[in-house]
Amino acid sequence: MRIGVDYYPEHWERERWDVDIRMMQEAGIQIVRLGEFAWSLYEPTEGAYTFAWMDEAMDFFAAHGMRVVLCTPSATPPKWMADKYPEILQADVHGNPKVFGTRKHYCFNSALYREKCRALNGMIAKRYASHPALEAWQADNELGWANTTRCYCDECEATFKGWLQQKYGDIATLNRLYGTVFWSQIYNSFDELIIPRAGACYDVCPHTQGQNPALLLDYYRFCSESVVDFTHETCASIRRYSDKPITSNLLDAAVNSGTGIDYFALSKELDFVTWDNYIEFQWGIAEDATVSRDHALVRSYKKQPFWVMEQQAGPCGWSRMGPTPTPGKLRLWTYSAVANGADSVLYFRWRACPFGTEEYWHGILNHDGKPNRRYAEIARTGNEMKRLSETYGALQPKAKVAIIKSFDSEWSHSIHDHVEGFQYDRLLLDYYRPFYAMGVAVDFVTAEEDISSYALVFAPALLMLTDAERANLEVYARNGGNLVISFRSGIKDGNNNMLTQTVPGVFASLTGVEVHDYDPQYQHQTGVSGIFGAGTANLWCDIIEPTTAKPLGVYTGNFYAGKPCLTVNPVGDGQVYYLGCDLDEAAMQHFAQYVGAAAGLPLPLYSIAGVEIVHATDGQRQPTFVLNHNAEPVVVPIAGKYTDQLTLTPVEGTLSLVPFGVAILDD
Ligand code: GAL
Ligand code: ZN
Repeated sequence: MRIGVDYYPEHWERERWDVDIRMMQEAGIQIVRLGEFAWSLYEPTEGAYTFAWMDEAMDFFAAHGMRVVLCTPSATPPKWMADKYPEILQADVHGNPKVFGTRKHYCFNSALYREKCRALNGMIAKRYASHPALEAWQADNELGWANTTRCYCDECEATFKGWLQQKYGDIATLNRLYGTVFWSQIYNSFDELIIPRAGACYDVCPHTQGQNPALLLDYYRFCSESVVDFTHETCASIRRYSDKPITSNLLDAAVNSGTGIDYFALSKELDFVTWDNYIEFQWGIAEDATVSRDHALVRSYKKQPFWVMEQQAGPCGWSRMGPTPTPGKLRLWTYSAVANGADSVLYFRWRACPFGTEEYWHGILNHDGKPNRRYAEIARTGNEMKRLSETYGALQPKAKVAIIKSFDSEWSHSIHDHVEGFQYDRLLLDYYRPFYAMGVAVDFVTAEEDISSYALVFAPALLMLTDAERANLEVYARNGGNLVISFRSGIKDGNNNMLTQTVPGVFASLTGVEVHDYDPQYQHQTGVSGIFGAGTANLWCDIIEPTTAKPLGVYTGNFYAGKPCLTVNPVGDGQVYYLGCDLDEAAMQHFAQYVGAAAGLPLPLYSIAGVEIVHATDGQRQPTFVLNHNAEPVVVPIAGKYTDQLTLTPVEGTLSLVPFGVAILDD
């Protein structure tokens, strides 16, 4: 474990670098990330490449024994390119180009842009492949940031037509699978196909443009694949010359999620994944459970240790700032990342920049570049980690609980979201939160991967799945697994059409229930009672008719009072639960305890609000991180005898933590 910073040598006078490197090294900073927005320095005019400035920076860091992550600069194509080749610009949903002046203004499918990227990326890779400072590569920066995954330009439209032809073969098949007979949309050839730009229903449905749901879902898949393919090309340009690992910084930040990229697919292109973690800033304040959820997601994309490539280091925002991190939080957030599987944590950024869009975005240092309170806290953390890394390798929690995350389902839910207030992401968080509170690690999985090592698997609102995925879940249950399926699962086909089977569609026999009537909770709630105590459903109520399943809970209100809302069905050696409604937070907590205990998980008898407990392992040692997210001190009961690896003091009976304090308990 170690810390690093995102650094912009091009923003500062050369003399200042000497001060910066000294301060970095005194703070235990071991790695810097460079160059993700530097295209106009590398290629100031077309074909006139200059590397001297980066040579100097790389040599400088090598001379000081600092490791470097070097980026491909494709996030910011330069002005001359936008002027000379306007076809590289991405277009918004109305088909208007996104003009020069910010960043991410390029189209992932632009053949010309890809050619320009291949040329420059290849030159950078070749030049620095065996540079002694180089540790890893970063492809682009925050792919899909600011709604840029879905482009609506002519080149995307043309490429999409070919993609559809490839997928469906003949137009009659597409017409049947898209249901184009609805609203007179029958196409005569692939050439007539469109991308879902703003149409006549845009004012009613600005979010989906009112377009055909099958077309929308395919377009979302196509756009995600375009980003993955763009990244594949970037990685190929690098791998031609370098065998150093390649990553890209993902965007699962709790208040920033939903890039429209299938991160499981993107991660296959990468050697390791990283993400950018902003917790309290202009665009929101994240709760600790959601930050933990985001770490878990990123860890899950490859089921291996990850990095945080940008970790908040000060008050930040573009036009306005969020709060300055309260003393203790920077260190707490860093250890929370490490506990959840982050092997390196890089702070964004070293020093606040006096110019540009992000002039208010504070780094570790303020604009004046002097050591400050945040620097002192990060220096403490960095130096602690240098010592801890002599004891520990890359740590990760080993989860026995998994939640299925389906990007197809996510996109389909985003197109037609069932009822006011429904959000797939938030529903997944509802399932994650109780385990977070109990200190039980959770992974996110796909429905197609091997899930046999998990004691308990949740499939919340798994709207659509393939036959192979359904079979995978059934085998899991038959072999003794505990599977929980929720409302709005198994009811759509792969083209985003409703199935005509009785709800829950492809899950009817596995769950042993039928649903002939359901009640979207539009501006009302329904009481529920069962093994989870008494509570309310606030989004959705499936009125369950068991066929082979046994009820574990019932509705207590509305015309369906007394009808089951939760059931369990024995399948082979396992159990399949069907939860026909959402549950309020307290009921959800009891539900998680019930199914967790039934699945044989060791669950704690109590938990303390705001105290994050993570049992991690590097394969040898098994430290327990205790992280206090409260602004008050806490006393945590501890069973057994440990040493706190941070203070090197013994812990027995109880552990006292200051506000935002951390302990690492081990033998
Ligand atoms: C991230 C981005 C950085 C910087 C930071 C602050 O989204 O990767 O380049 O912009 O946020 O806005
Ligand atoms: Zn485009």
